[in-house]
Amino acid sequence: MSITVPDSPLVEGFPFPFVEDRYRYSTNVEAANQVVSTAAGSWGGRVVDADAEYEHELAERAAILAADPTRHAVLSHMRPAAWDAMLTLMRELAVAYPDRMRLHQKVDQSWRWENDILGVTQEFVYGEDTTLPEEPLRYICDQVQEDVVLLDQRSDQLFADAGVVTFAADWSFGFDVGMSFLEIHGPVPRVRKEGVITRAHEFIKRLQPHQPYRRTNWTMTIGRRLDVSTERYPEWGPDRERIGHVDDVTFGQLVHLRVEVQHLIRLPDSGAVMFLIRTYMLPLNQLATVDAWRRRTAEVLAELPDDMADYKGIIKYRTRAAEWLLGADPSANTADTRS
Ligand code: HEM
Repeated sequence: MSITVPDSPLVEGFPFPFVEDRYRYSTNVEAANQVVSTAAGSWGGRVVDADAEYEHELAERAAILAADPTRHAVLSHMRPAAWDAMLTLMRELAVAYPDRMRLHQKVDQSWRWENDILGVTQEFVYGEDTTLPEEPLRYICDQVQEDVVLLDQRSDQLFADAGVVTFAADWSFGFDVGMSFLEIHGPVPRVRKEGVITRAHEFIKRLQPHQPYRRTNWTMTIGRRLDVSTERYPEWGPDRERIGHVDDVTFGQLVHLRVEVQHLIRLPDSGAVMFLIRTYMLPLNQLATVDAWRRRTAEVLAELPDDMADYKGIIKYRTRAAEWLLGADPSANTADTRS
């Protein structure tokens, strides 16, 4: 059986995360807005990325928020930060997509926002809740594919006190809201001993406005499922067992490399930190069409220590994924030529 994979914009723009054949946690932050060339294309030229999945993913976010309001929270002291986040995201969208998104400040100091992709025109007064149809963070999250967490900085610590998170990878925003940055990272293996999280904490506390930074993180997901939150574990958790029983063609279609491009931005008015999480997924059968990615991902998966593979939830199928990639034929833009 042969599956022909069309030239895919998702492959060209995929933020392939591995810089060597081995992966370990690190405080891997770099200045944002720099374009990264990859073996298949490039990524990273903008802070907010609206791609071919824009309308589809926004519809998915809307459905998740309608079914589960705990994916959105703004603790009362974060209301100014929510306005700050909204305006910052509008500015980023307008810079990235000037032909389709526009933000104007009028002479009376009120604002006009236009998003032609969604057919939105909205006039508002900054800081006045009644001038928007929704709470400002929720309002703008209906127009970006990124998940957003806003962190308050007080007593020399950061607290995740607001956000809209519909595409969490095996965690729960509703559970974490109000927790400190250090508490949130408590379950991650290794990082305490290695100082990764304390260094990240110190770094974020020193962030300055107008100097956005970014990092990547990765895991694997079975099926093209953005919402693998703890809340919905009963729906997706059993896939980790079931994937052991599918044939090779189905395996290559279902198992995805999932990459998060995360931005860290100090908001200029409120002083809060905005954390953006943009999730990209590529099935192994498309990943394997790029030979350098195929070989490197196989090496990383085979070498990854068990405690990290366990925490990422991939321990049951990472060896098969590595073997699948090594055996895949990347030629002729064909994902899997085995019967
Ligand atoms: C430089 C900054 C950061 C670094 C180096 C960092 C590092 C990490 C690492 C290594 C993991 C484990 C990921 C995995 O194995 O898949 C993780 C998980 C996580 N991070 Fe961060 N992180 C950073 C910023 C943030 C920020 C600002 C937030 C916002 C609240 C955040 C929220 C989380 C959450 C919710 C998890 C999942 C924890 C769980 O299992 O419950 N991270 N982070």
